[in-house]
Amino acid sequence: MKQGEMRCLLPWRSVALLFEKPSLRTRVSFELAVAHLGGHCIYLSPQEVGLGKREPVADVARVLSEYVDCIVSRVFSHETLVELAQHASVSVINALSDVEHPCQALADVLTIREKKGRLEGVRLAYVGDGNNVARSLALLSGMLGVHFAIATPEGFQLDEATVTQARAYASASGSDIMVTTDPGEAVSDADVVYTDTWTSMGQEEEAADRRKTFESYQVNSALLSRAKRDVAFMHCLPAHHGEEVTSDVLNGPSSIVFDQAGNRLHVQKAVLAQILLASD
Ligand code: CP
Ligand code: NVA
Repeated sequence: MKQGEMRCLLPWRSVALLFEKPSLRTRVSFELAVAHLGGHCIYLSPQEVGLGKREPVADVARVLSEYVDCIVSRVFSHETLVELAQHASVSVINALSDVEHPCQALADVLTIREKKGRLEGVRLAYVGDGNNVARSLALLSGMLGVHFAIATPEGFQLDEATVTQARAYASASGSDIMVTTDPGEAVSDADVVYTDTWTSMGQEEEAADRRKTFESYQVNSALLSRAKRDVAFMHCLPAHHGEEVTSDVLNGPSSIVFDQAGNRLHVQKAVLAQILLASD
């Protein structure tokens, strides 16, 4: 679609970005996505709104629904997002919570499809913390026929409900969900190796302990050499060089992390168009 045609998709639609946590990729890609589609975006920083502090979450949802067509929100607690959605009369998009990061996972599968030419049968190995990014990837992999293997330390696995749900999706799509504590086992024969920070936003006080716990879960060239020869390395970013991934891997020939970040923009446009055009 030409840029001129795209700008006509959402003329004068307005979107609020309501963020409790910092962001580079999600904020910039959503703001530009709205602009490219001809709409208007308002960014509300963590300090401005004081969700649940200056004002109850339900009231914020009802007030914003008077002004905008869609709320894109990044929150500490997933419950806040649920409460926003319950009280808003417009759609609420998850821009990351402590439970899931679905917009990231959509950009991830788009990137995998571009690089590998397919999704079904691709072997995706995630190494590190069983966090929001891992949860969304496991579920979407199961839905789309991607074989998903995850290696986490004991105590940092994906919750049982997510694994059960991902396996239910996977049995319908013909893929497998494998759970292990052994990074070598997870990456063996992988087409894609993925990692994320060991300490997510909101867990900063645990950072030192987590660095020790996750030490043997670093994605480095030795681990990557156990995957397929043409393996692609992915990371949602921001990355902590020398912790969950070494700089040589992040900047090396296997890395597709910047294409992956770039695809956030295209996916954000698709999500907004799908949701806002459906509500016409
Ligand atoms: N990957 C991602 O969501 O990045 P930001 O936290 O910078 O938005
Ligand atoms: N798991 C990370 C993802 C950042 C994009 C976090 O929640 O901080």
